[in-house]
Amino acid sequence: VDPVQFETGIDAALLAGATRLRLVACGTSYHAALMGRHFLEHWARIPTEAVIASELRERPLLDEPGLTYIGVSQSGETLDTLEALRHVHKQGFPILAVTNVQGSSLTRLADETILTRVGPEVGVAATKTLLGQVTTLAILALELAQARKTLDEPTLERLAHELRRLPRVLEETLGREQELGVMARQLAQAEDLFFLGRGVHVATAYEAALKFKEITYNHAEGFGSAELKHGPFALLSPETPCVFFVPAGEGRQKVLGNMVEVAARNAKVYAIVQGETADLEGIVDGYVKVAGGDVVGPLAMSLAGQLLAYHAAVGLDRSVDMPRNLAKSVTVE
Ligand code: G6P
Repeated sequence: VDPVQFETGIDAALLAGATRLRLVACGTSYHAALMGRHFLEHWARIPTEAVIASELRERPLLDEPGLTYIGVSQSGETLDTLEALRHVHKQGFPILAVTNVQGSSLTRLADETILTRVGPEVGVAATKTLLGQVTTLAILALELAQARKTLDEPTLERLAHELRRLPRVLEETLGREQELGVMARQLAQAEDLFFLGRGVHVATAYEAALKFKEITYNHAEGFGSAELKHGPFALLSPETPCVFFVPAGEGRQKVLGNMVEVAARNAKVYAIVQGETADLEGIVDGYVKVAGGDVVGPLAMSLAGQLLAYHAAVGLDRSVDMPRNLAKSVTVE
Protein backbone atom coordinates (compact mmCIF):
# COMPACT_ATOMS: atom_id res chain seq x y z
CA VAL A 1 0.00 0.00 0.00
CA ASP A 2 1.39 3.43 -0.94
CA PRO A 3 1.86 5.76 2.00
CA VAL A 4 -0.91 8.34 2.18
CA GLN A 5 0.01 11.76 0.81
CA PHE A 6 -1.88 14.95 1.71
CA GLU A 7 -1.59 17.65 -0.94
CA THR A 8 -3.29 21.00 -1.21
CA GLY A 9 -1.26 21.90 -4.30
CA ILE A 10 0.28 25.07 -2.87
CA ASP A 11 3.99 25.82 -3.10
CA ALA A 12 5.41 24.22 0.04
CA ALA A 13 7.94 27.07 0.32
CA LEU A 14 5.16 29.45 1.43
CA LEU A 15 4.63 27.66 4.74
CA ALA A 16 8.01 25.97 5.15
CA GLY A 17 9.37 28.81 7.28
CA ALA A 18 6.14 29.60 9.10
CA THR A 19 6.51 29.45 12.87
CA ARG A 20 3.07 30.95 13.55
CA LEU A 21 -0.17 31.21 11.62
CA ARG A 22 -2.98 33.74 11.84
CA LEU A 23 -6.30 32.92 10.19
CA VAL A 24 -8.34 35.97 9.20
CA ALA A 25 -12.05 35.84 8.35
CA CYS A 26 -15.61 37.09 8.99
CA GLY A 27 -18.91 35.41 9.86
CA THR A 28 -19.16 31.71 9.15
CA SER A 29 -15.67 31.73 7.64
CA TYR A 30 -14.36 32.87 11.04
CA HIS A 31 -15.94 29.82 12.63
CA ALA A 32 -14.32 27.60 9.98
CA ALA A 33 -11.05 29.35 10.88
CA LEU A 34 -11.54 28.50 14.57
CA MET A 35 -11.97 24.84 13.63
CA GLY A 36 -8.93 25.08 11.32
CA ARG A 37 -6.90 26.50 14.20
CA HIS A 38 -7.76 23.40 16.23
CA PHE A 39 -6.44 21.10 13.48
CA LEU A 40 -3.31 23.17 12.79
CA GLU A 41 -2.33 23.26 16.46
CA HIS A 42 -3.20 19.66 17.28
CA TRP A 43 -1.77 18.02 14.20
CA ALA A 44 0.87 20.33 12.70
CA ARG A 45 1.81 21.75 16.14
CA ILE A 46 2.03 25.30 14.78
CA PRO A 47 0.92 28.09 17.14
CA THR A 48 -2.17 29.46 15.39
CA GLU A 49 -4.81 32.03 16.13
CA ALA A 50 -8.04 32.88 14.35
CA VAL A 51 -9.01 36.54 14.26
CA ILE A 52 -12.01 38.53 13.08
CA ALA A 53 -10.87 40.53 10.08
CA SER A 54 -12.45 43.84 11.08
CA GLU A 55 -10.71 43.63 14.46
CA LEU A 56 -7.33 42.85 12.95
CA ARG A 57 -7.51 46.21 11.20
CA GLU A 58 -7.67 47.89 14.60
CA ARG A 59 -4.53 46.18 15.91
CA PRO A 60 -1.02 47.55 15.56
CA LEU A 61 1.19 45.63 13.17
CA LEU A 62 4.04 44.26 15.25
CA ASP A 63 7.24 42.75 14.05
CA GLU A 64 6.44 39.04 14.13
CA PRO A 65 9.02 37.02 12.20
CA GLY A 66 7.76 33.69 10.88
CA LEU A 67 4.11 34.76 10.96
CA THR A 68 2.04 33.74 7.93
CA TYR A 69 -1.53 34.85 7.31
CA ILE A 70 -4.33 32.66 6.00
CA GLY A 71 -7.36 34.53 4.64
CA VAL A 72 -10.52 32.43 4.74
CA SER A 73 -13.42 33.74 2.66
CA GLN A 74 -16.07 31.87 0.71
CA SER A 75 -16.54 34.69 -1.78
CA GLY A 76 -13.04 36.12 -1.66
CA GLU A 77 -14.71 39.54 -1.81
CA THR A 78 -15.57 40.41 1.81
CA LEU A 79 -14.26 43.92 2.30
CA ASP A 80 -13.21 43.55 5.93
CA THR A 81 -11.18 40.44 5.12
CA LEU A 82 -9.57 42.03 2.07
CA GLU A 83 -8.72 45.26 3.89
CA ALA A 84 -7.22 43.38 6.84
CA LEU A 85 -5.02 41.37 4.49
CA ARG A 86 -4.04 44.44 2.42
CA HIS A 87 -2.96 45.99 5.71
CA VAL A 88 -0.62 43.07 6.53
CA HIS A 89 0.45 42.63 2.91
CA LYS A 90 2.05 46.09 2.99
CA GLN A 91 4.30 44.83 5.79
CA GLY A 92 5.42 41.91 3.64
CA PHE A 93 3.75 39.07 5.54
CA PRO A 94 3.10 36.00 3.35
CA ILE A 95 -0.60 35.31 2.66
CA LEU A 96 -2.39 32.10 1.79
CA ALA A 97 -6.01 32.31 0.58
CA VAL A 98 -8.69 29.68 1.23
CA THR A 99 -11.67 30.57 -0.93
CA ASN A 100 -14.42 29.11 -3.07
CA VAL A 101 -14.09 31.59 -5.92
CA GLN A 102 -11.30 31.34 -8.44
CA GLY A 103 -10.10 34.77 -9.60
CA SER A 104 -11.69 36.58 -6.64
CA SER A 105 -9.98 39.65 -5.14
CA LEU A 106 -8.59 37.49 -2.34
CA THR A 107 -6.82 35.20 -4.79
CA ARG A 108 -5.24 38.21 -6.49
CA LEU A 109 -3.92 39.53 -3.20
CA ALA A 110 -2.59 36.23 -1.85
CA ASP A 111 0.73 34.57 -2.61
CA GLU A 112 -0.93 31.16 -2.88
CA THR A 113 -4.55 29.97 -3.01
CA ILE A 114 -6.36 26.79 -2.05
CA LEU A 115 -9.80 26.56 -3.66
CA THR A 116 -12.46 24.82 -1.61
CA ARG A 117 -14.23 23.69 -4.82
CA VAL A 118 -17.70 23.11 -3.39
CA GLY A 119 -19.56 24.84 -6.23
CA PRO A 120 -21.63 28.04 -6.06
CA GLU A 121 -23.62 28.55 -2.91
CA VAL A 122 -26.99 30.20 -3.52
CA GLY A 123 -28.44 30.63 -0.03
CA VAL A 124 -27.26 33.72 1.85
CA ALA A 125 -26.40 31.75 4.99
CA ALA A 126 -23.23 29.74 4.38
CA THR A 127 -23.69 25.99 4.71
CA LYS A 128 -21.82 23.70 2.31
CA THR A 129 -19.04 26.28 2.02
CA LEU A 130 -18.37 25.98 5.77
CA LEU A 131 -17.97 22.23 5.34
CA GLY A 132 -15.62 22.84 2.39
CA GLN A 133 -13.52 25.34 4.33
CA VAL A 134 -13.17 23.10 7.38
CA THR A 135 -12.28 20.09 5.20
CA THR A 136 -9.70 22.17 3.32
CA LEU A 137 -8.11 23.46 6.52
CA ALA A 138 -8.02 19.90 7.87
CA ILE A 139 -6.19 18.72 4.74
CA LEU A 140 -3.78 21.66 4.99
CA ALA A 141 -3.09 20.79 8.65
CA LEU A 142 -2.44 17.17 7.68
CA GLU A 143 -0.14 18.19 4.83
CA LEU A 144 1.86 20.34 7.26
CA ALA A 145 1.83 17.58 9.88
CA GLN A 146 3.23 15.20 7.30
CA ALA A 147 5.92 17.64 6.16
CA ARG A 148 6.92 18.49 9.74
CA LYS A 149 6.61 14.88 10.94
CA THR A 150 4.39 15.87 13.83
CA LEU A 151 2.04 12.90 13.31
CA ASP A 152 3.15 9.32 12.82
CA GLU A 153 2.17 7.25 9.76
CA PRO A 154 -0.57 5.18 11.46
CA THR A 155 -2.27 8.38 12.66
CA LEU A 156 -2.04 9.94 9.18
CA GLU A 157 -3.50 6.74 7.72
CA ARG A 158 -6.34 6.80 10.20
CA LEU A 159 -7.18 10.43 9.48
CA ALA A 160 -6.98 9.82 5.71
CA HIS A 161 -9.39 6.94 6.14
CA GLU A 162 -11.74 9.22 8.07
CA LEU A 163 -11.63 11.85 5.33
CA ARG A 164 -12.55 9.22 2.74
CA ARG A 165 -15.58 8.37 4.90
CA LEU A 166 -16.74 11.98 4.92
CA PRO A 167 -19.37 11.75 2.13
CA ARG A 168 -20.94 8.74 3.88
CA VAL A 169 -20.91 10.49 7.25
CA LEU A 170 -22.63 13.55 5.80
CA GLU A 171 -25.24 11.29 4.13
CA GLU A 172 -25.84 9.61 7.48
CA THR A 173 -26.27 12.99 9.17
CA LEU A 174 -28.76 14.02 6.49
CA GLY A 175 -30.53 10.76 7.31
CA ARG A 176 -31.16 12.17 10.80
CA GLU A 177 -33.18 15.00 9.34
CA GLN A 178 -36.49 13.87 10.72
CA GLU A 179 -35.19 13.62 14.30
CA LEU A 180 -33.43 16.97 13.93
CA GLY A 181 -36.71 18.42 12.64
CA VAL A 182 -38.52 17.32 15.80
CA MET A 183 -35.83 18.94 17.98
CA ALA A 184 -35.84 22.07 15.78
CA ARG A 185 -39.57 22.59 16.20
CA GLN A 186 -39.15 22.51 19.97
CA LEU A 187 -36.25 24.97 19.81
CA ALA A 188 -38.18 27.28 17.48
CA GLN A 189 -40.69 27.98 20.25
CA ALA A 190 -38.04 29.65 22.43
CA GLU A 191 -37.20 33.33 22.12
CA ASP A 192 -33.67 32.69 23.38
CA LEU A 193 -31.57 29.57 23.19
CA PHE A 194 -27.98 28.55 23.67
CA PHE A 195 -25.61 26.26 21.83
CA LEU A 196 -22.75 24.91 23.91
CA GLY A 197 -19.60 22.88 23.45
CA ARG A 198 -15.98 22.55 24.46
CA GLY A 199 -12.72 22.33 22.51
CA VAL A 200 -13.31 22.37 18.77
CA HIS A 201 -17.05 22.41 19.47
CA VAL A 202 -16.94 25.90 20.89
CA ALA A 203 -16.69 26.90 17.21
CA THR A 204 -19.46 24.41 16.33
CA ALA A 205 -21.64 26.10 18.95
CA TYR A 206 -20.84 29.62 17.67
CA GLU A 207 -21.71 28.55 14.14
CA ALA A 208 -24.92 26.73 15.09
CA ALA A 209 -26.08 29.86 16.95
CA LEU A 210 -25.17 32.12 14.01
CA LYS A 211 -27.06 29.90 11.57
CA PHE A 212 -30.05 29.78 13.88
CA LYS A 213 -30.35 33.54 14.33
CA GLU A 214 -29.61 34.27 10.66
CA ILE A 215 -32.50 32.27 9.32
CA THR A 216 -35.03 31.98 12.19
CA TYR A 217 -34.63 35.57 13.53
CA ASN A 218 -34.78 34.05 17.02
CA HIS A 219 -32.07 34.90 19.47
CA ALA A 220 -29.42 32.20 19.79
CA GLU A 221 -25.94 32.42 21.34
CA GLY A 222 -23.01 30.04 21.27
CA PHE A 223 -20.75 29.65 24.30
CA GLY A 224 -17.93 27.46 25.47
CA SER A 225 -19.89 25.44 28.02
CA ALA A 226 -17.30 26.04 30.76
CA GLU A 227 -18.02 29.77 30.39
CA LEU A 228 -21.64 29.35 31.48
CA LYS A 229 -20.74 29.91 35.12
CA HIS A 230 -19.06 33.21 34.28
CA GLY A 231 -22.28 34.94 33.27
CA PRO A 232 -24.74 33.09 31.03
CA PHE A 233 -26.01 31.05 34.01
CA ALA A 234 -27.94 34.18 34.95
CA LEU A 235 -29.98 33.84 31.76
CA LEU A 236 -31.09 30.24 32.29
CA SER A 237 -34.77 29.50 32.89
CA PRO A 238 -37.32 26.91 31.72
CA GLU A 239 -37.71 29.13 28.63
CA THR A 240 -34.06 28.94 27.49
CA PRO A 241 -33.28 25.58 25.89
CA CYS A 242 -29.60 24.61 25.67
CA VAL A 243 -28.21 22.43 22.89
CA PHE A 244 -24.92 20.73 23.75
CA PHE A 245 -22.47 19.25 21.26
CA VAL A 246 -21.31 16.12 23.07
CA PRO A 247 -18.17 14.40 21.74
CA ALA A 248 -17.47 10.68 22.10
CA GLY A 249 -14.02 10.87 23.65
CA GLU A 250 -11.94 13.55 25.30
CA GLY A 251 -13.94 16.22 27.05
CA ARG A 252 -17.19 14.25 27.21
CA GLN A 253 -17.34 13.99 31.01
CA LYS A 254 -16.84 17.72 31.37
CA VAL A 255 -19.61 18.45 28.87
CA LEU A 256 -21.92 16.04 30.72
CA GLY A 257 -21.09 17.90 33.93
CA ASN A 258 -22.07 21.20 32.27
CA MET A 259 -25.33 19.61 31.08
CA VAL A 260 -26.19 18.54 34.63
CA GLU A 261 -25.52 22.10 35.84
CA VAL A 262 -27.90 23.48 33.19
CA ALA A 263 -30.61 20.89 33.95
CA ALA A 264 -30.33 21.81 37.66
CA ARG A 265 -31.31 25.36 36.68
CA ASN A 266 -34.47 24.04 35.03
CA ALA A 267 -33.44 24.80 31.46
CA LYS A 268 -34.28 22.17 28.86
CA VAL A 269 -31.21 20.25 27.71
CA TYR A 270 -30.75 18.84 24.21
CA ALA A 271 -27.74 17.06 22.77
CA ILE A 272 -26.18 16.41 19.42
CA VAL A 273 -24.13 13.45 20.51
CA GLN A 274 -21.36 11.21 19.25
CA GLY A 275 -20.78 7.71 20.62
CA GLU A 276 -22.84 6.13 23.38
CA THR A 277 -26.06 7.67 24.66
CA ALA A 278 -26.77 5.71 27.87
CA ASP A 279 -25.09 8.37 30.03
CA LEU A 280 -27.49 11.03 28.70
CA GLU A 281 -30.51 9.34 30.29
CA GLY A 282 -32.05 11.48 32.98
CA ILE A 283 -30.18 14.59 31.81
CA VAL A 284 -31.53 15.40 28.35
CA ASP A 285 -34.95 16.26 26.99
CA GLY A 286 -33.92 15.03 23.56
CA TYR A 287 -30.87 14.00 21.58
CA VAL A 288 -29.80 13.17 18.05
CA LYS A 289 -26.82 10.97 17.37
CA VAL A 290 -24.22 11.75 14.70
CA ALA A 291 -20.92 10.17 13.70
CA GLY A 292 -17.75 10.88 15.63
CA GLY A 293 -14.14 11.28 14.56
CA ASP A 294 -11.35 13.85 14.66
CA VAL A 295 -12.06 15.21 11.17
CA VAL A 296 -15.59 14.11 10.35
CA GLY A 297 -16.93 14.71 13.87
CA PRO A 298 -16.92 18.53 13.74
CA LEU A 299 -18.33 18.38 10.20
CA ALA A 300 -21.20 16.06 11.18
CA MET A 301 -21.95 18.25 14.22
CA SER A 302 -21.92 21.40 12.06
CA LEU A 303 -24.27 19.87 9.51
CA ALA A 304 -26.65 18.87 12.33
CA GLY A 305 -26.57 22.49 13.54
CA GLN A 306 -27.42 23.69 10.03
CA LEU A 307 -30.35 21.28 9.82
CA LEU A 308 -31.68 22.45 13.20
CA ALA A 309 -31.66 26.06 11.95
CA TYR A 310 -33.21 25.04 8.63
CA HIS A 311 -36.13 23.12 10.14
CA ALA A 312 -36.76 25.75 12.79
CA ALA A 313 -36.84 28.44 10.08
CA VAL A 314 -39.17 26.43 7.84
CA GLY A 315 -41.46 25.85 10.83
CA LEU A 316 -41.52 29.60 11.49
CA ASP A 317 -42.20 30.28 7.79
CA ARG A 318 -39.01 32.30 7.33
CA SER A 319 -37.29 32.94 4.05
CA VAL A 320 -34.51 30.40 4.49
CA ASP A 321 -32.50 31.29 1.38
CA MET A 322 -32.92 35.05 1.59
CA PRO A 323 -33.01 36.12 5.25
CA ARG A 324 -33.93 39.74 5.86
CA ASN A 325 -31.21 42.39 6.16
CA LEU A 326 -28.36 40.06 5.15
CA ALA A 327 -26.16 39.88 2.06
CA LYS A 328 -24.32 36.90 0.65
CA SER A 329 -21.16 38.92 0.30
CA VAL A 330 -20.49 42.12 2.22
CA THR A 331 -18.33 44.33 0.04
CA VAL A 332 -18.85 47.53 2.03
CA GLU A 333 -17.66 48.65 5.43
C1 G6P B 1 -21.73 37.53 4.93
C2 G6P B 1 -22.54 36.27 4.70
C3 G6P B 1 -22.05 35.16 5.63
C4 G6P B 1 -20.55 34.95 5.45
C5 G6P B 1 -19.78 36.25 5.64
C6 G6P B 1 -18.32 36.10 5.24
O1 G6P B 1 -22.02 38.05 6.19
O2 G6P B 1 -23.91 36.50 4.92
O3 G6P B 1 -22.73 33.95 5.33
O4 G6P B 1 -20.10 33.98 6.35
O5 G6P B 1 -20.33 37.28 4.83
O6 G6P B 1 -18.28 35.85 3.85
P1 G6P B 1 -17.06 35.25 3.10
O7 G6P B 1 -17.46 35.29 1.64
O8 G6P B 1 -15.89 36.15 3.38
O9 G6P B 1 -16.84 33.89 3.62
